[in-house]
Amino acid sequence: MEMIIINSLLRKKSIEQLLTETQGKAALKKTLGALDLTMLGIGAIIGTGIFVLTGVAAAKYAGPGLILSFIISGIACAFAALVYAEFASSIPVAGSAYTYSYVSLGEFMAWIIGWDLILEYLLAASTVSIGWSGYFQMLLSGFGIHLPVWATGALGSSPGAIFNLPAVVIALVITLLLSMGVKEAARFNNIIVFVKLAAIILFIVVASRYVKPANWTPFLPFGFKGVLGGAAVVFFAYIGFDAVSTAAEEVKDPKRDMPIGIIASLVVCTALYIIVSLILTGIVPYQQLDVAAPVAFALNYIHQDWAAGIISLGAIGGITTVLLVMLYGQTRVFFAMSRDGLLPRIFSHVHPKHQTPFLSTWLTGIVVAIIAGVTPINTVAELVNIGTLSAFVFVSMGVMVLRKTQPDLHRSFRVPWVPLVPILAAFFCLFLMFQLPLITWIRFVVWLVIGLAIYFGYGIHHSTLAKPESNNP
Ligand code: ALA
Repeated sequence: MEMIIINSLLRKKSIEQLLTETQGKAALKKTLGALDLTMLGIGAIIGTGIFVLTGVAAAKYAGPGLILSFIISGIACAFAALVYAEFASSIPVAGSAYTYSYVSLGEFMAWIIGWDLILEYLLAASTVSIGWSGYFQMLLSGFGIHLPVWATGALGSSPGAIFNLPAVVIALVITLLLSMGVKEAARFNNIIVFVKLAAIILFIVVASRYVKPANWTPFLPFGFKGVLGGAAVVFFAYIGFDAVSTAAEEVKDPKRDMPIGIIASLVVCTALYIIVSLILTGIVPYQQLDVAAPVAFALNYIHQDWAAGIISLGAIGGITTVLLVMLYGQTRVFFAMSRDGLLPRIFSHVHPKHQTPFLSTWLTGIVVAIIAGVTPINTVAELVNIGTLSAFVFVSMGVMVLRKTQPDLHRSFRVPWVPLVPILAAFFCLFLMFQLPLITWIRFVVWLVIGLAIYFGYGIHHSTLAKPESNNP
C-alpha cells in the first residue's frame, strides 16, 4: 500500500506526453510573439509594487537604502528568471512552474507548487484590485467625487467601510475582457503598458531636477537589516515576470520568444525601479513616504501637481494591466492542473467560440472579486510574496533535477553555470522568505495543509497518470 502511494507521489509526466496534449482538442490558440510577451511581462511587473509599496518600504524598512532593497530583490529574480527561461524554452506548455515541476520533481511536488502559485496569482489579483481601488478613489476625490463610505473598503480597513466596491468592479471588468479572448486582451495590455512606461519616464524627467543629496543621509537609518526587510517587501514589485511563462502554450515560437520575453521585461523593470527609488528618496525625506500614493505624493511635494495627476492616471492604468496578467496566469495554472486531473475538469474546458477557458476564467474572477471586496490589502499582500518565493525555490531545484534526468532534452535557452545559478536562485529566494514575519509563515503553512487535504482527497485519485492507459514513465 505504502509503495503504491509513494509511486503516485513521484509519478512524472513525460515531456513528449505534455507536448502532445497541447496539440489536441483542448489546445489553446497560438497568437503571441516575443514583443507581446515582453509587454505581457512589463504589464505584469510594474504596478502596486513600485507605485504603492515603495513608500512603506522606504519609511518603515530601508530608508534611502531602498535602492539596495530593489537591487537585492532584483538579483534574486534575475537568477530565478534564468531558470524560468530555460524551463519555458524547453517545455512550452501552459502552467509555468507547476508544469515544470511535474516533469522534473513528480506529481506531489507539482501539486504543492501549483498550490503555491494560486497564492501568487489569485491573491495578487485581489491585492492589486484593492490597490487599484485606492488610486481610483484618490483620483475621484480630486474631482470632488466621493463614494458612499460603506463602499470604500473592506470591513475593518477604515471606519464605516464594509465592502470595497471599486475593487470588485475592476476585477469583474478584467475577467470579462479575458474571457473574450487572449489576443484582444494582449492588445489592450500593450496600450496600457505604453501609458505606464510614459508615466514613469515623466516622473524621472520631472523629479530628477529636484533631488537633494542631503535626503540620502543617513543612507541606512534602519541598518542593513532594514534593507533586507525592504527587499522582502519590494519583492512584490518584481512578481510577474514568471507570469510570462504561463502563456507559453499560446506563443507562436516559444523556444525563441520565451527567454526574450522573460529576461527583457525583467531588465527593463529593474532599471526603472532603481532610478525611481533613487529619485523618490532624493526628493522627499524617507520618513514622509508612508502614504497610499508615494510617487504622486512626491510630485506634489515638489509642487508639480500637474505631473502628479498624470502619474496617478498612469498608475491606475498600470495597476490594471498587472491585474490582467495575474488573472490570466491563474486561469492558465488552473487549466494545466485540471487537464492533469488534479483539479475538476471544469477548469480546463475551452469555450468553442472564444477559445478561452471561459468558465474557469469567470470562476476565478468571481473569487478574486469577493476576496478583494472583503479583505484588507495587507492581509493578502504578504502571502503573495511567500507563495511566490517558495515556488521560485522549487523551480530552481527542478531545473537541476531535469538536467540530470533528461540531459539530452533540447533546450534553446540554457541557464549558465549549472548548478551554481539555480543554487543561488534558491538561496536568495529562501533568504527573502526568512525576512517575512512569523504570521505570514503560519498562514502559509495553513494554506499548504489545505492543499495537502485536497490532493489526498481528490487529485491523487483523479490524476490522469493514475489511469491505466496513461504512459507513465
Ligand atoms: N509586480 C506586480 C506589482 O507590482 C505584482 O503590482
